[in-house]
Amino acid sequence: MVKICCIGAGYVGGPTMAVIALNCPSIEVVVVDISVTRISAWNSDQLPIYEPGLNEVVKQCKGRNLFFSTDVEKHVSEADIIFVSVNTPTKTRGLGAGKAADLTYWESAARMIADVSKSNKIVVEKSTVPVKTAEAIERILTHNSKGIKYQILSNPEFLAEGTAIQDLFKPDRVLIGGRETPDGLKAIQALKDVYAHWVPEDRIITTNLWSAELSKLAANAFLAQRISSVNAMSALCEATGADVSQVSHAVGKDSRIGPKFLDASVGFGGSCFQKDILNLVYICECNGLAEVANYWKQVIKVNDYQKNRFVNRVVSSMFNTVSGKKIGIMGFAFKKDTGDTRETPAIDVCKGLLGDKARLSIYDPQVTADQIQRDLTMNKFDWDHPIHLQPMSPTGVKQVSIAWDAYEASKDAHALCILTEWDEFKTLDYRRIFDNMQKPAFVFDGRNVVNVEMLRDIGFIVYSIGKPLDPWLKNMPAVA
Ligand SMILES: NC(=O)c1ccc[n+]([C@@H]2O[C@H](COP(=O)([O-])OP(=O)(O)OC[C@H]3O[C@@H](n4cnc5c(N)ncnc54)[C@H](O)[C@@H]3O)[C@@H](O)[C@H]2O)c1
Repeated sequence: MVKICCIGAGYVGGPTMAVIALNCPSIEVVVVDISVTRISAWNSDQLPIYEPGLNEVVKQCKGRNLFFSTDVEKHVSEADIIFVSVNTPTKTRGLGAGKAADLTYWESAARMIADVSKSNKIVVEKSTVPVKTAEAIERILTHNSKGIKYQILSNPEFLAEGTAIQDLFKPDRVLIGGRETPDGLKAIQALKDVYAHWVPEDRIITTNLWSAELSKLAANAFLAQRISSVNAMSALCEATGADVSQVSHAVGKDSRIGPKFLDASVGFGGSCFQKDILNLVYICECNGLAEVANYWKQVIKVNDYQKNRFVNRVVSSMFNTVSGKKIGIMGFAFKKDTGDTRETPAIDVCKGLLGDKARLSIYDPQVTADQIQRDLTMNKFDWDHPIHLQPMSPTGVKQVSIAWDAYEASKDAHALCILTEWDEFKTLDYRRIFDNMQKPAFVFDGRNVVNVEMLRDIGFIVYSIGKPLDPWLKNMPAVA
């Protein structure tokens, strides 16, 4: 029986291994992690991450051929194929601080593999890593090899949180990069055989190692760039009276452009986009490609601009001050159908409003109060370290309370800010909400989920990103 071990039981390791186990009953899959709480949660009925469909998949194979364990060394030593899916945060100090990937966790995993291995292994990079990481890992492994042969493959993960299970069942492509040597090709084939249990062959792409590593960074940079492009357009739409949804629709009808990822919003978030672009920028700079680095930097700048613009719009619309005013925050996760808050635009928007002394009442159907408080007090990039190495739960931010539902969050509020596109925000009883709010009552829709006309008829002053402005907003100071 082929044995797979995955180091890292997070958003990527957990779901990917569950789907492999379900589709390959003849393979034993063990997911290991240094975090005892994470592993205990995987072994309970309350999984550590929320992802539609994940529970059902895990239920079917947990205890059959899918196991979760903290006995990292035992399972690594027994495995034929080892996936490494650990954190690769942005460095916060030293060389490359603020841009380069911190490979501390990756390197410690590689050294541990070298220490405990007694048989040949295929080591698969699942984490997103800088180009040429495989070479560094290969060096660590071969210099400590004790005669054991290692083949390193790059198999970046393209799943999107919120749709991870369907993405894993029907991937657009599976990408496998490896050495173009006889042993390298054999390793590629072994991994291809795993995926071939359910992925059609024409969707499994093989490349050299460096192309696979770079393709992941490139794919995320392209996706983020689309969002920044449409968000840049949203600012111009507001200035000219165009409607960004109509512009996106018209642009997306061009088959060369396509309709996906063209929704304007308060900004992109998630653990990957910013981190991977910063990493790309750093690699370009290290290779003397300043113009290329600057090009990609701009994608992040526009994202920051969009979040600032939103905060400025809220404050300027409300007579240039939100001091002491209650603002209901609808949604905190970086997108719907996930409880993940890593780099969510809600953090910057909330911090911006708190900076202007607002009182916030935050509601999100999937994010815990503790997580929100941690996010609002943590330093930049601290979130991307294993949970037990992050700062302890802080004392809460005084002006922030957490609400059980949207109605509680909006009660007596001066304004609502919709920051995540949860479906339930489309069907709230906005008349009831209006009746319980201070007047004038504002809605700032950072995800274009509400029916603007209907809300205006109720009496709200509505701002919806990239849409023609409410007459009220037109008369307020311009937003930088
Ligand atoms: N989240 C996504 O949507 C996504 C998508 C594609 C790729 N990625 C990449 O995949 C990697 C993992 O991301 P994630 O979202 O799953 O992160 P995560 O923080 O959810 O999970 C990483 C896990 O690795 C564990 N870990 C760290 N060092 C370890 C070690 N030495 N031994 C055992 N366990 C260790 C941590 O405790 C943590 O549970 C990152 O490189 C990320 O960029 C993420």
